[in-house]
Amino acid sequence: MFDLKAIVRPNIIKLEPYRCARDDFKTGILLDANENTHGPALSEPSALELELELNRYPDPHQEELKQQIVDSRNGTPNMHATRKVTVENLCLGVGSDESIDMLMRCCCAPAREKLLVCPPTYGMYSICAAVNDVEIVKVPLTVPDFQIDVEAIVSKLESETGVKLIYLTSPGNPTGKLISVDTIISLLEKVQDGWNGLVVVDEAYIDFTAPPQDGFSQSMATLVNQYPNLVVMQTLSKSFGLAGIRLGVTFCNAQLSKILNSVKYPYNISSLTSDVALKATSPRGIAVMQRYVKSINEQRDLVLAKILALEYVGRNLGGLDSNFILVEILDKEKKPSNEVALKLYNTLAVDNAVVVRFRGNELNCTGGLRISIGTTEENQVMLSKLERVLLELNK
Ligand SMILES: Cc1ncc(COP(=O)(O)O)c(C=O)c1O
Repeated sequence: MFDLKAIVRPNIIKLEPYRCARDDFKTGILLDANENTHGPALSEPSALELELELNRYPDPHQEELKQQIVDSRNGTPNMHATRKVTVENLCLGVGSDESIDMLMRCCCAPAREKLLVCPPTYGMYSICAAVNDVEIVKVPLTVPDFQIDVEAIVSKLESETGVKLIYLTSPGNPTGKLISVDTIISLLEKVQDGWNGLVVVDEAYIDFTAPPQDGFSQSMATLVNQYPNLVVMQTLSKSFGLAGIRLGVTFCNAQLSKILNSVKYPYNISSLTSDVALKATSPRGIAVMQRYVKSINEQRDLVLAKILALEYVGRNLGGLDSNFILVEILDKEKKPSNEVALKLYNTLAVDNAVVVRFRGNELNCTGGLRISIGTTEENQVMLSKLERVLLELNK
């Protein structure tokens, strides 16, 4: 049943990739791309800025960076992986946000085709869908465990025509909960006979998730050669601490990756971005990332224990698979309250210079406050101010 040609929009399938000047010749006196060969207009360029030749267009293919990324993911594969991923499985984007948008533009015809999401989920999916005039179909996550409801998704796909993509977030935002890999695999297998579309797993927070066993990862990135209908998106914005460079990675079957690489702007990854990303995804960079993840996860567990002990904090609504927690804020009657949570959020930000995120309006998150884990000092300040303000609000 899987037929990529029928998933990707006909105009995109026909697309001939843009050929850059440098695709043919890379060396010599390069007067082929209308660059400024006098150099960058910087009064005192740093050694790095000079070395990066910023007056030149960046590499459109980023093979070395892609190789490092696949090497690191192949090094800790999913326990179900039987094949390795290669650079042919990758497309790089300006953050995951570009990857999310690009795939939607490739597959969903405006005003006709649809995207299925499972709320509560990441807000950009619906913003991209609105921009691209793509209708959203919703199948809520189950409560209270925030998993996908495979049967409900399958029956939605039977009753709704035109759904091309399913966007899942695992670990979820704002839920912080991993969606079981076995459950996603069962979805991939169940839908493949009756539905021609792609299941996209947004793994922005995956490095914070505890591995199932030594040497394995919960990431599904290494499964894209086994499941042609699986797409996995990752980012350097979270575990790598590089939100400022904007680098997103799409893992998918090689046929789709070729299409995505034809659609992306040729020079979407800047020389500055790839230079930093190369350092971060090298074995030494990965070791630093893992150290940070360990520390953030330890802090997260401490913060959660302390916050749950506060008088007007209810349940931990979410999971422990990300670098944030989602907790329930209570009113005087000890009931989850959006009113108190919103006041708490405002007072913390305006009077206490502590900014967290109110998520109480998300489906099944009443009273929800999402708190990113900071440094030890930041967490201590946040906890003491939150405790004081919350007691005052419920006086
Ligand atoms: C689930 C999820 N996906 C993607 C992103 C965006 O990532 P990027 O910074 O790579 O655009 C975020 C950012 O908060 C996120 O929570």
